[in-house]
Amino acid sequence: MTSTTTPRLLAIAALAAGAAALPAAAQAGTVTSAHLDWTQANVYDLAGSKTWLGYATSKAPLNALGTATPIAPATGDTVTPDSPKGASVFYTTSFPSTSGSYDATDGTGTIELDGGLSFVAPPPPDGHGFDISIEQPQLVLDGLSGELYASGKGSTDSGTYDRSAPLFDLDLSDASVTIKADGSRVIGPIVPSIATAKTAFPNNYAVGAGPDRSPNTFGSFSLTVKTNGGDQGPKGDAGATGATGATGATGAAGAPGAAGANGKDGASTTIRTVQAVLAKAPYKGSASRKVTVYSTKNKKLASGTLKGRVLKVTLASKVTSLSGKVKVKVTGAKSSKTVSIPS
Ligand code: HEM
Repeated sequence: MTSTTTPRLLAIAALAAGAAALPAAAQAGTVTSAHLDWTQANVYDLAGSKTWLGYATSKAPLNALGTATPIAPATGDTVTPDSPKGASVFYTTSFPSTSGSYDATDGTGTIELDGGLSFVAPPPPDGHGFDISIEQPQLVLDGLSGELYASGKGSTDSGTYDRSAPLFDLDLSDASVTIKADGSRVIGPIVPSIATAKTAFPNNYAVGAGPDRSPNTFGSFSLTVKTNGGDQGPKGDAGATGATGATGATGAAGAPGAAGANGKDGASTTIRTVQAVLAKAPYKGSASRKVTVYSTKNKKLASGTLKGRVLKVTLASKVTSLSGKVKVKVTGAKSSKTVSIPS
């Protein structure tokens, strides 16, 4: 069942039913399946856009001549010096999860991922001679921020690095959560910046480097995660013990009152308010506009506000997620605009 009941209302309902205390906080769910997708643009224009992947696989005039290859069980694109390049040419590596926990109520969790991505260039004069890998990442999420730890070959003096220091700091302040029909959550964009210099990547990249360029030097991540819990509302606490009976008129103590009835189970809750970042702002300026979102077949999907590219809406009943092409109609406007919500 879907309901918009808030925890406060649940508490009131529980009190009415059995004089119970506030429901206990939800527990983190155990990850039953997850994968982390790492998407990077492949561009290196000396006078323009530059990414690490673009540098690593560059041909003339730079001639780093490296290749980016997924390490099993990670899957995805192999990028060579001959692969298509450009600021909007993206390649993705997908790291499967082996275990972890995630609490959807506050976005905290630790997820273990398997496989890797290696960047290898032959030694000079055939290339720039590097051997870098990001292997078995561990994703640590704390709401709107997080870290990615990993191990592999890199730019330390020993030539290897490990999880003793984070590789990337992660910024989720622009991330939205989409709930899919199977109950999994897709969370992104998760934007990385260098957390510890000279670990995997060379010292050219200082702490904080990454999102200071467009496209981001190290691309962005998207997490798909499903847990064994998460969506269930908290269970109501057991009812309180009944009050002791009143003292009898003739002096004998009354029998203790019976235990109160158990509190009602919490209703399951679904996140009804979602935030999505549109591929392109349909209107100029940064004013906040009241909007209604329709499918391309004019079915009402959601309503809320639109500010630049950021859409904050409450989903209509039975709608679980927003993605793909939708129509956005500003309240009072005659016509709608078709926009695209990246999945
Ligand atoms: C034959 C050896 C090498 C040559 C000739 C070389 C050449 C260059 C040049 C010319 C640039 C600057 C490009 C620009 O103006 O934007 C550059 C940038 C860079 N090099 Fe090398 N390099 C070599 C080896 C290496 C090695 C071993 C590494 C270690 C991974 C490395 C990592 C980098 C990085 C990270 C950048 C900055 C890329 C960016 O702007 O994002 N280079 N290299």
